Amino acid sequence: MSGLTSIKTTGDQIHIINQLLLPHTFEYIEINSTDDAHDAIKSMKIRGAPAIASLAALSVSQHLSRARQESPEPEFLKSPEALKSHVEPILRYLFTARPTAVNLGQATRRLSDTLQASIVAGKDARSIADDLIVESKKVADEDVGRNKEMSKWGGEWLIEQVKKKGGSGERLNVLTVCNTGSLATSGYGTALGLITYLHETGKLNKAYYTQSAPYHQGSRLTALELQTMKIPSVMICDTMVGSLFQHYDIHAVAVGADRIAKNGDTANKIGTYNAAVLAARHNIPFIVVAPITTVDLEVADGSGIPIEHRPRLEACITRGAIHPPSLNASGVKEQAAVMITPPDLEGIYNPSFDVTPAELITAIVTEKGVAVKAEGAKAFDLSQVV
Ligand code: MRU
Repeated sequence: MSGLTSIKTTGDQIHIINQLLLPHTFEYIEINSTDDAHDAIKSMKIRGAPAIASLAALSVSQHLSRARQESPEPEFLKSPEALKSHVEPILRYLFTARPTAVNLGQATRRLSDTLQASIVAGKDARSIADDLIVESKKVADEDVGRNKEMSKWGGEWLIEQVKKKGGSGERLNVLTVCNTGSLATSGYGTALGLITYLHETGKLNKAYYTQSAPYHQGSRLTALELQTMKIPSVMICDTMVGSLFQHYDIHAVAVGADRIAKNGDTANKIGTYNAAVLAARHNIPFIVVAPITTVDLEVADGSGIPIEHRPRLEACITRGAIHPPSLNASGVKEQAAVMITPPDLEGIYNPSFDVTPAELITAIVTEKGVAVKAEGAKAFDLSQVV
């Protein structure tokens, strides 16, 4: 089942769909430098932990591949030392674009390791650049396959759990938060991938999703993805999770992750923690679906995860409220935004993510399988998984 595509590449060309304009305007914008990639990630034209790592890596590949074709060749391709001095600051800069999603840091570290290994192997600068180009493309390409694997692991595990509780394992209702589909990854998705898998195998009744204020990744992006794939679904406001659990038979909550600590504490879109508390109250399995690259063994628990706070204004506006979008003075399409607060409001709390304690998480699903806590334990030991 094919969904929307967040990144399109042809040779050295990279285009991303501008997610700030979705769902009303489909506009692909060109990425022509690592600066463009940094800006697109920071401004959230592209978002979702795996997708931003893919774009960062692809922009490095584009930069080096274009340099390889330049004549005369740039100075930095004349020695391994010059190449290192050129590439390392780029990687560090890309890494600063957004702080919470660990996949971005994982991707830049992986490229830095490739650079170092090729230098140690005694290769010349051109060969090292070629190694980096290959490795960068792998970062993006590997994503789709592993998403399908984790979606299947998680989907089959959930069916089994429902059967163990005496259910049929058919016609499942699953709630998700934010957007974790093909727009947030290189394709298929993580938590939304699990939902897609259940739909493809005829086991899904309905997908439920929260609007995910203030950025509305749910109502703008997940809604569009589910509609595009014709998956039966119901949107709820973030405030309605408790009511949904009281009145409907929800079989699981499946969410993605931006960073998972060694003990399983999970940072994900703001509102995930609320859903987890309510799921525990209603005895509903709470499943985190994410690639191994989202697990950060260097962080012992959630208190060590940096939480991004977005600009205050972003919590004061709704996006995509007026259709069609207007043109600004330079003729560029702008998404209409409506203020929902008095102007110049001072006191605004706008963290982009929250941390769900491992205690509230039933299972963490990666491409390697399904991890659960030991009998009676309150935390996971993910060093066994990674
Ligand atoms: O701020 P965003 O939109 O980048 O946040 C995205 C999320 O929180 C996702 O759930 C997470 O990155 C996983 S995407 C597969």
